[in-house]
Order: sequence, then C-alpha cells, then structure tokens
Amino acid sequence: MTDESTKTGASAISAEAMLQRFLLISRAVAGQLDFQSLIQKVSEEVGFFLPHDHIDVCILTGERDMHVAYEARLHTGWGEAPEPVPVSFSPIRSILRGEEEFILTADAQLDERFHFDGAFSDPIFDARLRSRLHVPLQVEGKVIGALSYSCHARGIYEDSHVTIAQYVADLLSSYIHALNQGERARKAAIRQAEIHAHAEGLRAGALRLTEALEQERQRIGMDLHDQTLADLTRLNHELRRLRQSPKIPGEALNSLTDRLEGCLQELRSIIEDARPSVLKLFGFEEGIEALLERAIASQARPITVKFSDETDGTGNSLQETLQIALFRITQEAVNNAIKHADASRISVCLSQADGYLCLSITDNGLGLVSDDTDHLGGIENMRTRATLISAEFSIEPAEKSSGTCVRVMMPVTNLTKCPITEPERNNAYLDS
Ligand SMILES: Nc1ncnc2c1ncn2[C@@H]1O[C@H](COP(=O)(O)OP(=O)(O)OP(=O)(O)O)[C@@H](O)[C@H]1O
Ligand SMILES: [Mg+2]
Repeated sequence: MTDESTKTGASAISAEAMLQRFLLISRAVAGQLDFQSLIQKVSEEVGFFLPHDHIDVCILTGERDMHVAYEARLHTGWGEAPEPVPVSFSPIRSILRGEEEFILTADAQLDERFHFDGAFSDPIFDARLRSRLHVPLQVEGKVIGALSYSCHARGIYEDSHVTIAQYVADLLSSYIHALNQGERARKAAIRQAEIHAHAEGLRAGALRLTEALEQERQRIGMDLHDQTLADLTRLNHELRRLRQSPKIPGEALNSLTDRLEGCLQELRSIIEDARPSVLKLFGFEEGIEALLERAIASQARPITVKFSDETDGTGNSLQETLQIALFRITQEAVNNAIKHADASRISVCLSQADGYLCLSITDNGLGLVSDDTDHLGGIENMRTRATLISAEFSIEPAEKSSGTCVRVMMPVTNLTKCPITEPERNNAYLDS
C-alpha cells in the first residue's frame, strides 16, 4: 500500500484535525472489550496520520518478562504465538525494558538492532516489513507494552510521526492497562473456579467411594446374617435336639454345642460391626452412647464413659455417609483406649467452632509411645476415613491428662455440600 510516494508528512496536519482524530480514537476504543478488537479499531483510526501496513500492540505479562502481541492488517508469527514469549527474544526488547524512548528505522530488514542471537524477527522478513516505528505504552512511569507501526516501503516514518505515535500511545495506555487488569482478573477467576471444581470433584468422588464401601460392608453384613447366621442357628437347634436324644450321649455333644454357641456370638458381633444398626435405629447421638456402653460392658475394671454434644444435635442431621465415618472413627478410638491405654475415663465430644465441626475422643490412659502412630492398623483406617470425608485427622497427647486425644475436624461448609444419594435423587425426580 505504501511507498515513497504515499509518505505523509505528519507535521502537515493541522492541530484541529489532529484533535478531532484523537477524539475519534478515544471513542472508537472505548467500547472494545479485548485487545484484538482494540488494535483493529486503532488501525482504522490512526491511518490518517500514521500510515501502516501492519500494526501491533505488545503487552507485557507475567513478571513483565514475557509478552504477547495482537496485530491488525497483516497477521504474522508475533500475533500467532500460542504462548507468551520472553521479552529477551523481542526485536524491540530495549523499548519493553524501558531502555529507549522509541525506535525509528527506515529499513528493519537491515537494521541490526532487530537481529541478534535468538531474536524473534522472522516476521520482519515473512511479512516484508521495512519502515518501522515503535513507542512504549506507559502507566505511572512503568512500561506496560509497546505500539508498533510498519510499512512495506522504506523510509516512511520521520520525527513528526514519533511525536504523534507517542500521543496515541499515551492516549491508549490507561485504557490498555485497564483492559489488561480486567483480563488478568478474569483469568484468575477462571483458574480459581477450575481449582474449586477440581477439589469439589475429588471430594464428591471420595464421598461416593465411602458410600460404596459402606454399602458393601452392609451387604456383607446382611448376607452373613441372612445366610450364615441362619444356617448356624439351625445347626445349633439340631445339635440341641440330638443332645436330648437317648441314643447319643449328651456329653459327647456338649463341647461341640459350646463351640458353636461361641461361633454364633462371634458372628453376631461381626454383623453388628459391619452394619451399625444403632445409627439407623437411634441416630448419631444415641448411636455413639450405645457404642460407648457396649464397649465397656464386658470390661473387668470400671471405665467411665461420657458423650457430650455441644452442637445442639448437629450429629443427627449429618448425611448418613458422614455419620457412619464418624461413628467408625469413634469406635476404633474407643477400642484403642480400652485395649492399649488402660484408661479409666473415655470422653467423646462433638463441638463446633471457627467453621469446623469437631469430634474428639479423649482417654486418660497411658498415652502413646513415639512410633505408635506409624502403625498401618486402626489408626491408619481412621485417618483414611477422615480423608474420605475431607476432614482433618489427628492423634495426639491429651491436653488435660496423660492420655490420648483423637480429633476429626470437618469444615462446616462441607456439611451442606454432600452429593445427593440415590434414594434422595429418586425422590427429587418424583417430586419434580
Ligand atoms: N488411646 C491410646 N492410648 C495408648 N496407645 C494407643 C492408643 N491408641 C493407639 N495406641 C497405640 O498405637 C498403636 C497403633 O494403634 P492401631 O489402632 O493402629 O493398631 P492396633 O490397635 O494395635 O491394631 P488394630 O487397630 O489393627 O486392631 C497401638 O498398638 C497402641 O500401641
Ligand atoms: Mg486399633
């Protein structure tokens, strides 16, 4: 488009015409919401006093050590780079680093300033650019980018163009800065939303897994109950009947009957373990109380147990998956206190503070020895159960006694975000 004959002496333009143009530029860019449309508009409006075959706006990103370019009229490798490019490779790095106030060249293909080791200057040749003019975009004394004009012809720009280019750059700088900040905020919000969605996905997945595991335990419990326990009970009745028969000496069967009774007892407790029916029948609070009473019932030495709920019944309103996880953790912690600590007092407390629902199981026993918590047994299970419901788990020396305190802390925000379970989902469907 341009050659020596179309060269416009910018100094020939009247001050009034210039002012009119600047107003037009302001109006044109004010409605643009992204850099691409902005540079397009600038190109349309500045051709009057800054002829060009290619124009680009270059924006610093990251720690101001990278840059991206948006171009109009011609599209080159500068604007098509998929990722931000280091400033150190930019042919106009001296402008972007604030080392020069402008660069004016009659022929960029021959100008050595653009051609150094690693310079991203191929587009100069690919797009046949010769005359080039570059000015910085500045906000509060800091360079935020650059505006560049180029023509195919040689020697188009002169000093008067530099002044106008700087006016245009100053006019656009604040606007470009605001657009850049807006863009950063938008990207940060998207990133934040993605992280949140990812964490939510993991949490929901973990809860579904806990539900599945718990359902499987319940199924095994029911199978044992309906099949095995029923078979054994029948066998037991049969044995009792045989023992009363005059033909078989009762004493011969006594030990067999006793062993069978033992097996039945054992099996009943396995089933009860797999299926915390107390939770279903009585809810969380009474379920925990029943658990405590049962745990100490067969102990030779007296153990005082206490359950305190400082939350006004939050436990009962928790989703079933959470109730089961907390119930099982309590069960293991209480068993440990009885088995290892020689405790005379065990207290379970449910409380809520600082955005957390906290369940603690404290005993006044012997306390942990240093490497106890490395075990892969019940403690690890408690930790896993807590992780699966997105809760924090700790086992530490108790504050007010020589004993141990197991603590599970669940963010209150998680309590309301449980995934809909199948029955609930079905009801929701029926309700709609
Ligand atoms: N309340 C406690 N007081 C004192 N020591 C404890 C207490 N809880 C756990 N420990 C110690 O930590 C160890 C690890 O406990 P963990 O529950 O992981 O395994 P376990 O009870 O030995 O076996 P499992 O739970 O698999 O039946 C225990 O062997 C015990 O030494
Ligand atoms: Mg244990």
